[in-house]
Amino acid sequence: MRQASPSCHSAIASAAALRYSFCQMTYEWSKLSGVKWMDAWEDRFHGNPNFVMEILKGGKSARIRVFCGSKKEAEAIVEQFGGSVRPLPNGAWVNPSQTVQPLLKIRDVFGVTQEADPAKLAKLRALHPQREILSIPAEMAFGTGDHATTSTCLRLLVDIGRSRAPGWSIADLGTGTGLLVIAAKKVGAGEAYACDFDAFSVKATAENLVRNGVTDVVLEEKDVLKWKPRKKYDVVVANLFSTILIQAFPVMAKLLKPGGEIVISGILASQAWEVFTAAAEHGFGFPTVIRKGKWVTARGGWMNDLVEQENV
Ligand SMILES: C[S@@+](CC[C@H](N)C(=O)[O-])C[C@H]1O[C@@H](n2cnc3c(N)ncnc32)[C@H](O)[C@@H]1O
Repeated sequence: MRQASPSCHSAIASAAALRYSFCQMTYEWSKLSGVKWMDAWEDRFHGNPNFVMEILKGGKSARIRVFCGSKKEAEAIVEQFGGSVRPLPNGAWVNPSQTVQPLLKIRDVFGVTQEADPAKLAKLRALHPQREILSIPAEMAFGTGDHATTSTCLRLLVDIGRSRAPGWSIADLGTGTGLLVIAAKKVGAGEAYACDFDAFSVKATAENLVRNGVTDVVLEEKDVLKWKPRKKYDVVVANLFSTILIQAFPVMAKLLKPGGEIVISGILASQAWEVFTAAAEHGFGFPTVIRKGKWVTARGGWMNDLVEQENV
């Protein structure tokens, strides 16, 4: 069954909103700041598509700008952070070649950006030398990292990478842009499989693998619900929606090795019990459950592995 998801639509909508907002902004809020405060500014305005940072000549200071639809909106930022407001003369308000998109930070390991321009990526890498910068441009596929479900899966994958010896295998079900499998490869995954039933997602993933220098991923256009897997993996990650997850548990049960780990996401909090009950029927348990807003992500494995053996 192919099901359109509201969140996939919202990802598309936000990309569309970004283009739309570029035409609609009438005021600019701006403030000069030291480059060392860039992380803090990114956190403050993360998710705001009209927030840009421009590193100034010399590299020590940056201009922080937020394009606003009204003077009131801009003045509200002044109240919170100081800075100044000016009306935008038509078409003169942004020079995309000088701005750097905000970075989504995952643990102390990744910085995920929608930037694809090599010069801007080089700038981001220079600014965050301790992070692996993953470039996932906003396309019509879900998974730039902005969504709470994706970012929580990423954090759990980093934790899994830290807890396993390098070379663990992974299957990423419903890969979207490929971000999760790319991240998994960077934190120690060996054999990797990714699929999506959406041809555009598969194409975007193939491009993103190359863009991020990741090789050795078996990528397929496949409907998880129609799959009869023949291989087993150490880690299965599935950021699907509740109804799909519930139907996909029999497939995941065939995919996960003994001692393996499973990360599920895309679960609305209101549907979590239903999902965990269905998972339990297939032998899965989830000791780690993380809620971000209305979304739930969980990390678990085979219930048999999770139950401590009693020493006799
Ligand atoms: C919520 S998005 C997650 C994308 C990405 N893994 C992430 O974490 O950001 C769900 C993805 O699963 C895909 N999908 C949904 N149902 C599927 C199915 N039955 N088989 C394969 N892919 C599916 C969608 O096309 C979409 O790309």
